[in-house]
Amino acid sequence: MTLPDTMRAMVTMGHGGLEQMVLHADWPRPEPVAGEVLVRVRACGLNNTDVNTRSGWYSKTVTDATTGGAFEEVGEDDPTWGGAPITFPRIQGADVCGEIVGVGAGVDPARIGARIITDNWLRDPDDPTDKNKTGYFGSERDGGFAEYTTMPSVNAITIRSELSDAELATFSCSYSTAEGMLTRANVTAKDTVLVPGASGGVGGALVQLAKRRGARVIALASEAKHSDVTSLGADRVLARAPDDLRAALGEDRITVVADVVGGPYWPTLIDILERGGRYTCSGAIAGPMVDLDLRTFYLRDLTFTGSTVIDPEVTNNLVRYIEAGDVKPALAATYPLDQLREAQAAFIAKKHTGNIVVTP
Ligand SMILES: NC(=O)c1ccc[n+]([C@@H]2O[C@H](COP(=O)([O-])OP(=O)(O)OC[C@H]3O[C@@H](n4cnc5c(N)ncnc54)[C@H](OP(=O)(O)O)[C@@H]3O)[C@@H](O)[C@H]2O)c1
Repeated sequence: MTLPDTMRAMVTMGHGGLEQMVLHADWPRPEPVAGEVLVRVRACGLNNTDVNTRSGWYSKTVTDATTGGAFEEVGEDDPTWGGAPITFPRIQGADVCGEIVGVGAGVDPARIGARIITDNWLRDPDDPTDKNKTGYFGSERDGGFAEYTTMPSVNAITIRSELSDAELATFSCSYSTAEGMLTRANVTAKDTVLVPGASGGVGGALVQLAKRRGARVIALASEAKHSDVTSLGADRVLARAPDDLRAALGEDRITVVADVVGGPYWPTLIDILERGGRYTCSGAIAGPMVDLDLRTFYLRDLTFTGSTVIDPEVTNNLVRYIEAGDVKPALAATYPLDQLREAQAAFIAKKHTGNIVVTP
């Protein structure tokens, strides 16, 4: 098969607003080096990490909620998830579904033709469990907002599924993040899990994956999205931020809060936990700065777990769940790649439930 030398790509030129993403019609197509595969991108999911990296929200100089737009001041030394600068131009986009169309030295050519989704965590091949030696696909190296991309062969996981390319592009980031949180919090069938932001990508995955573990799941979401969240399997869906959460919960006792929202409502989430309860967190879309009464934390015997870098087996397990139909995609909309700015604007506006995907 003859492959073109150039490709269409949406290239992020620097930190800032949506205008930093620029469509190029003749960007050089990447070549796989030793140990890598070349993937023809069929679909690529959007995530807040794309938004936060572009805007520089991860920098400690930013204390606001995620807005999606540019911030007045972004620290030069810590503008990414890992706390280090990245170089531009950069092709973002982590959640690729595609087909392997080429291999670098040392990769079995039999992989050509495989349908894959990504494990987004780039690891040191000699030390894959060292979380300090990790990068993120579409952040520390180019990702999938393009017609072609390359990645280590180990990050391209073969998948057998009836789902569409766009549906498969909803899983990698949100669902592996959610499964990582539930793993860190040790969620079992004995738990009642409260999920703020349950209409979002990670929240919807938390609902499904906590149900998969047999837990009771109570979701918080905007009213317009309640029926969507119910269809994901939540046992109960409450308002986004009930004034009296204790009263809204009634007889339900919360043993785990699985949170990606944070912000002003956060103290209520902590205060609702039962003695010995667990709080697990991998995001703060409503704001990273929160008020903690340490007395609640220690007098209630709470455990807090942060969760970001995922162990490889978590992603591999997730692929098995997808193939078995244990989790379903929540695909809200598909946009063409050249409308990535419009897709991100819709993603940031949060009128939808689930994930948004672009196709080249
Ligand atoms: N650590 C990691 O590896 C990792 C991975 C993935 C995501 N994240 C982080 O997790 C967070 C959520 O990601 P996501 O992809 O699930 O987001 P999303 O799809 O945009 O959903 C977030 C949900 O939060 C709810 N929400 C409540 N208060 C909000 C507020 N003040 N502003 C915006 N939304 C609010 C919204 O639901 P309602 O309108 O129904 O309330 C929305 O559906 C982000 O901060 C993201 O960066 C981290």
